[in-house]
Amino acid sequence: MSSSRIAVFASGQGSNFAALIEAQRAGLLGEGSIELLVSDRPEAPVAQRAEAAGVPALLLRPKDFASRELYEAEIVAELQRRDIGLIVLAGYMRLITPVLLEPFAGRIINIHPSLLPAFAGKDAIGQAIGYGVKLTGVTVHFVDGGMDTGPVIAQRSVAVEAGDTAESLAQRIHGIEYALYPEVVRAFAAGKVELQGRQVIVRE
Ligand code: GAR
Repeated sequence: MSSSRIAVFASGQGSNFAALIEAQRAGLLGEGSIELLVSDRPEAPVAQRAEAAGVPALLLRPKDFASRELYEAEIVAELQRRDIGLIVLAGYMRLITPVLLEPFAGRIINIHPSLLPAFAGKDAIGQAIGYGVKLTGVTVHFVDGGMDTGPVIAQRSVAVEAGDTAESLAQRIHGIEYALYPEVVRAFAAGKVELQGRQVIVRE
């Protein structure tokens, strides 16, 4: 399995997907190559972005399957067919079951718009504004069976300014995401990300 062959999973807008494609075009993913988009929402804007970028897409509706496991089994078959070695979740709003986790252990990463473990789950940016924190940020982490609970690979902080709304804060957080995720994907594709228990070592 080659860590340089990447599938991006996304459910919505796909602005992080677009940033990763852009980074690849600019040579910023190093050996990394985006081979597939997987989406659980065929009608989502990210599907059009994949088409425009010429990236093959696997668009499956979970409700068309008898179980989450059968839905994921179909995805796994396609990932194996394409020899995918790294799964990059970019706004993929579903928990993952062992059907996908086990064959790709240590090869699934996610980006989340907060400094985990604060504000896991949905609407992390709204949660941060609601709580009144002065500092939030972005986390890239390994995925396990929990909700945003896997080992942390990289974090960047973003200050919450007086008068920030969820929208204004989201704009700055997204800007950080678009730079940070390609950096981590590049390191992963180059075999420089190592997991030791809960500690993650990213070699230069
Ligand atoms: C991103 O901000 C990402 O961090 C977040 O969804 C957004 C997707 O935006 N992910 C999560 O909240 C995961 N728990 P995009 O579709 O425009 O890339």
